[in-house]
Amino acid sequence: MNDEKLRQEWMELAPRWVKEVREGRNSPRKGILDPVMLEACGDVEGLSILDCGCGEGRFCRMLVERGAKYVLGLDLCELMIEAAQELQSGRDEYRVQDVQVLDFLEDETFDLAVSYLNQCDLPDFKANNREVFRVLKRGGRFIIANLHPMKSATGKWLRNEAGEKLHAILDNYFDEGERHWAMLGVMFTNFHRTLSTYINDFIETGFLIKRIIEPTLSVDRLEEYPELDDELRVPNFIVYILEKP
Ligand SMILES: C[S@@+](CC[C@H](N)C(=O)[O-])C[C@H]1O[C@@H](n2cnc3c(N)ncnc32)[C@H](O)[C@@H]1O
Repeated sequence: MNDEKLRQEWMELAPRWVKEVREGRNSPRKGILDPVMLEACGDVEGLSILDCGCGEGRFCRMLVERGAKYVLGLDLCELMIEAAQELQSGRDEYRVQDVQVLDFLEDETFDLAVSYLNQCDLPDFKANNREVFRVLKRGGRFIIANLHPMKSATGKWLRNEAGEKLHAILDNYFDEGERHWAMLGVMFTNFHRTLSTYINDFIETGFLIKRIIEPTLSVDRLEEYPELDDELRVPNFIVYILEKP
């Protein structure tokens, strides 16, 4: 799978993605990940922030609304960046860019970097770690939401004849590499890696691991988002809070 093919998959998915994010329920984000990501980012007032794989810019806009001084959103997919620019407010900026290569950015520029469900899309997530480490100021944080490795390994449920979910299937966990999924009717590629592969690379890059969160649902949220009931049973997402010492 080469980078151009991966970009084409996102170009095909982008129109449906933008519509879902802006008009749909977008439950995995609104229901479970947004509160965790916002709390992990903390007070962003006055910060310069980099968003790796920003999509149509929703999280950049949320950071601007919360007082960020400047947010730079990067995404490989031109259609995502065009959609983000439509809603740009002035303190956010967007650029078509592969986040595995950030050589246009100076060292130690940003206070905070985020990666909201993007590292699972990268053939070389280690390059992204290295580059983010370089462009962060000392004491800067890198907040990463990713597919949980227990989800990205297989991601399917064993069901009974009535179609009810018996349990999640965890298989081929140590077989790292491409996984192919359908999302919003489009096939696209993710990369599965084990938990230790991720964590060891954060450490080897030089990051301190401040916290790891496996988000689940509160009872209130479940009432609002009953379609997220899986989240009470299995970890679909994981959030890492890293710091450049
Ligand atoms: C699952 S979406 C998440 C978008 C956004 N962060 C959000 O939460 O709405 C992943 C995004 O990563 C982008 N992407 C995939 N590979 C990339 C790469 N190598 N460099 C930059 N962006 C990439 C895709 O175009 C897509 O917009």
